[in-house]
Amino acid sequence: MAILNSVLVVAPTGKVGLAICHELGKTRSRFKRIAAFKNTSRGGDDAKEKILSDLRDLGLEIVSGTYEDVDIFRGFDVVIMPLGNHGLYLQPQIIDTAIAAGVRHFYPSEFGADLLVGENWHQRYYKYKTITREHLTARSKDTEGLGWTFIQVGRFTEWSVIKHFGIDNANHKATIYGNENGRQSLLSVEDSLAYFMNTLSDPFDESAPTSRQRTYRLNGGPYTWDEIFSTLERITGYPYEVTYIPVERALEKEAHAKEIGDVDLELEASHQLIQGREGTLLPQPWDNSQFPSVKPKGLEEVLKQAFGDPSMRKFLGL
Ligand SMILES: NC(=O)c1ccc[n+]([C@@H]2O[C@H](COP(=O)([O-])OP(=O)(O)OC[C@H]3O[C@@H](n4cnc5c(N)ncnc54)[C@H](OP(=O)(O)O)[C@@H]3O)[C@@H](O)[C@H]2O)c1
Repeated sequence: MAILNSVLVVAPTGKVGLAICHELGKTRSRFKRIAAFKNTSRGGDDAKEKILSDLRDLGLEIVSGTYEDVDIFRGFDVVIMPLGNHGLYLQPQIIDTAIAAGVRHFYPSEFGADLLVGENWHQRYYKYKTITREHLTARSKDTEGLGWTFIQVGRFTEWSVIKHFGIDNANHKATIYGNENGRQSLLSVEDSLAYFMNTLSDPFDESAPTSRQRTYRLNGGPYTWDEIFSTLERITGYPYEVTYIPVERALEKEAHAKEIGDVDLELEASHQLIQGREGTLLPQPWDNSQFPSVKPKGLEEVLKQAFGDPSMRKFLGL
């Protein structure tokens, strides 16, 4: 059985990437090597340098170069790629470079819904995520021992109540594509990371594709919009004025965004369409029971913590 011991994180300064690096730093002694990738083809600034220097202090190695530099990827068992929306298209390039360097396992930038549910596979928001999966499948035909891990959590609980999904916490208003009974699977960032770390230590049989090509569905919830807004009302002490719009109207918003060339708006509309169609509801079977040490927190506990955390105020639109 194989276990992943040498880990390289690309996009370590992103929201998910940094959280992953912090978790890895806490359990440094368990790994032979943990490194964060500094992409020199992108502009840096003081904030980014500070993050990387803090990661170095945490005991992570910083490797610098571009996603074409084969030598930088040598010596790692696994590359974790939590790239953000605008960098997702780079994953096939990273995979090819890392494969040339001998890497045989990847955690692509998933950390969301099951892409095989409903119409998810064809949605704009998932375009580069599905291309990445297709690329991995194609490369597995010419790369002996290629494996991957898809982490599915539905939606991070803290992310479910932000402007991107139509919620204005400062004014206690929301515009939601879908209806009050629409469900989503919600798992806190902390619990998602705890499961993620468990999967990194989960051994697999290198000789069996079904064992080394893994999907983990880690479920929290599900919760309806109705439950989410009653929870927000209890936590904030304010009633929320919620307007529900027929979900398919998000298609018009997406088309308009495309027409005016606003990619972020297009992705937002696509995400709202996915959400409204219950695309982030994780189907069974779930894999939580493989990792009984993680006890996922419920919606109210997670949101109470988030709304009580001063560093989360801007993120929550407060
Ligand atoms: N399920 C959920 O609720 C949920 C919530 C949030 C995120 N996610 C998922 O988690 C993953 C990471 O998301 P995130 O929010 O952490 O991402 P992010 O913070 O927006 O970006 C992460 C990193 O991606 C790289 N990047 C961004 N744009 C790039 C570009 N144009 N060219 C090259 N690199 C670029 C940057 O790394 P460098 O500066 O190091 O190059 C950036 O720090 C995504 O797959 C996202 O869908 C899921």
